Amino acid sequence: MRAVSLNSLALLLLCTLACVLHLWGGLEKRLERRERDLVPSTARTFRALLAVPAARTTSRYFPRARTNVTTGSGHENKTLVSESGEPEDGGPRTVEPLEDGVFWSRNLESRLPAGFSEDHARAWSLRARAERVLSLEPGCGRTSNQLATFSDGSRACVRYGINAEQVQGETLAYYLARLLGISNVPPLVLAQPSAEQWAHVRKRVDGLQWAGRAVVSMTEWIANLSGTVTPTPLRPDGGGLRPSSDFSNQTEADLLELAQWSDLVVFDYLTANFDRLVSNLFSLQWDSRVMERDTSNLLKAPHGTLVFIDNEAGLVHGYRVLDMWERYHSSVLRSVCIFRRRTAQRVAGLHRYRDVRARLFELYRDSEPLAAQLGFLSEEHARILQDRVDRVYRHILHCKGKYNQL
Ligand SMILES: Nc1ncnc2c1ncn2[C@@H]1O[C@H](COP(=O)(O)OP(=O)(O)O)[C@@H](O)[C@H]1O
Ligand SMILES: [Mg+2]
Repeated sequence: MRAVSLNSLALLLLCTLACVLHLWGGLEKRLERRERDLVPSTARTFRALLAVPAARTTSRYFPRARTNVTTGSGHENKTLVSESGEPEDGGPRTVEPLEDGVFWSRNLESRLPAGFSEDHARAWSLRARAERVLSLEPGCGRTSNQLATFSDGSRACVRYGINAEQVQGETLAYYLARLLGISNVPPLVLAQPSAEQWAHVRKRVDGLQWAGRAVVSMTEWIANLSGTVTPTPLRPDGGGLRPSSDFSNQTEADLLELAQWSDLVVFDYLTANFDRLVSNLFSLQWDSRVMERDTSNLLKAPHGTLVFIDNEAGLVHGYRVLDMWERYHSSVLRSVCIFRRRTAQRVAGLHRYRDVRARLFELYRDSEPLAAQLGFLSEEHARILQDRVDRVYRHILHCKGKYNQL
């Protein structure tokens, strides 16, 4: 009897030991797996990204923008601030990133920097059309772009296009962003340097050899911008922006930036703008460190607004060269399955009514006195735009189907 109970005790001890070992092993495996997930796989290269087959080929919605506008002539000191009015310091995170499957949470959205509000754009464009241009100088990139200073001290980047399609792309991309509620593109107006407003700089304009009655674009000049690199999840081996991604290491400032990047990806897909993330991916073939450098045509304001500049490759030129770039565009779009709710709603509306051409045209015509001079999208390009809206819509549906159960 005693032998039996000793045996039972030994058996019990053995079982307990086995259980402890089993649990410990499982925990170790989970920790290992988590570590693996956090370290990007170097084996998944840009080529792997390319191997993915290419996809077959208003209400007043701008958020409350608070801008710090200094009085007098100091418009160049303007800074974009967060909606809360406080700089985002990247400190410990208190906000859940996601909500309802594939959307950035409302809480996170409420902390996003407001960008360029519609009211701000209206006020700026009135000024830019009225004030005399006092000087033109380098300071906005290539020599055909000029930094203009107005009589009230504010400034604009003037872009002259060798052909009209560059200015059209820049201008219509701006209006498309407004249609989508994406407030990261600085306000823009068209101008004719042959007009009286430019009398002060006539000699300079002649020296630039701009064609006689050329239409140029003027974009608000923003002070204190800095460069910004592509965030890790959006690099070829970064795993994408998905509800299944691990956001535990991201600070609130990181998440606020990622939310704006999700808009950037949708915007650049719709406009087929290759001159930002996509051209970097392309360059990886011969420049393996390109992702570590600042992304072209993307800048960041001190309080976290991403500023999408130089959109001239979009819509017109971008659509002409789609054959070359589409596989990259669709790879980037596929890597994003988290969206800003408003952007997704806008896309859904434009898909449902199939009216992106009409809505873009009306907004452009009603906002821009020189719209008729510059012209609009051709029928073919308007069809491509609608087709891309439909594709983004279907992609969002696909993401919802895949991740809503999470
Ligand atoms: N709206 C702006 N506000 C402030 N700086 C600007 C603005 N637009 C352009 N710049 C400055 O000019 C540089 C080149 O601008 P970009 O428009 O990309 O010119 P390019 O046509 O030469 O590519 C930017 O990196 C930035 O330093
Ligand atoms: Mg540029």
